[in-house]
Amino acid sequence: MLILRTVAELRGQVAAWKAEGHSVGVVPTMGALHEGHLSLARAARRECGRVITTIFVNPKQFNNPDDLLKYPRTEENDAVLLATVGVDTVFAPPVDEVYPGGFVTNISVGGVSAPLEGALRPGHFDGVATVVTKLFGMTQADRGYFGQKDWQQLQVVRQLVRDLNLKVEIVGCETVRDPDGLAMSSRNQRLTSQARSKAPALYAAMLAAAREFRDGTPLQGALGRARAAVLKEGFDRVEYIELVDADRLGPITDATRPLRLLAAAWLDDVRLIDNIAV
Ligand code: PAJ
Repeated sequence: MLILRTVAELRGQVAAWKAEGHSVGVVPTMGALHEGHLSLARAARRECGRVITTIFVNPKQFNNPDDLLKYPRTEENDAVLLATVGVDTVFAPPVDEVYPGGFVTNISVGGVSAPLEGALRPGHFDGVATVVTKLFGMTQADRGYFGQKDWQQLQVVRQLVRDLNLKVEIVGCETVRDPDGLAMSSRNQRLTSQARSKAPALYAAMLAAAREFRDGTPLQGALGRARAAVLKEGFDRVEYIELVDADRLGPITDATRPLRLLAAAWLDDVRLIDNIAV
């Protein structure tokens, strides 16, 4: 498995693969890899001739400088894991390779990036959209693999690809969870063991609210009980637990369309997000 640092090397590699007739899949990540990331890499391995995993902690998408500073970096271990999955190339560029001096472009996706995470983390989705567009440009990938764990991000990327006529097919992969239900996340490493034991309460409360809603309980009551349950289990703050239109992320205008329950809550100093189909 090759580890490349420059766009020029990556372009050379991809050009050679394409000349040989291989399709190319890309799995964008920020590293600190776990089973959730690896499930995307495995899907790409099954479906594409050649697989690139990118590891880049993108400073533009961190609205909180402390979060960027504390973001775990475990590249050596990440490379070992990716090699076992059979990834062909890791692209792990330094920051100035992605954002050289004079870089001034910003990609801002409207609509789906406005509510929820977009409202609470100003600039976050601009940072994601900008780097993902660049990664598609650098890798020339035929397919891009993203997790449903970050549901709103997945919709932002889909919208971006549609709006800019990018020639990449987006594949959304199921959320991988620990056995107790907690959605895997690089940020889970920052939970104390006591907080870790409380963390599954978020998913449990979401499942309960979804069940209540499906059984005919009025929505606001079900959501209110979910928020209260999460706080009672020891979370410090609930930013949102909302049911929205799954594709548009806006208010439900047609209950026959797919719906998605999304949540963000703080446990100790760690912000956890999760979502489920309803
Ligand atoms: P990161 O948080 O490293 O996640 C990389 C990819 O792994 C994303 O598509 C995310 O949805 C997926 N993922 C994370 N946890 C998962 C889980 N438990 N199950 C399934 N998939 C999971 O998301 C980002 O990085 C960045 O915003 C990025 C897209 C790389 C742009 O910088």
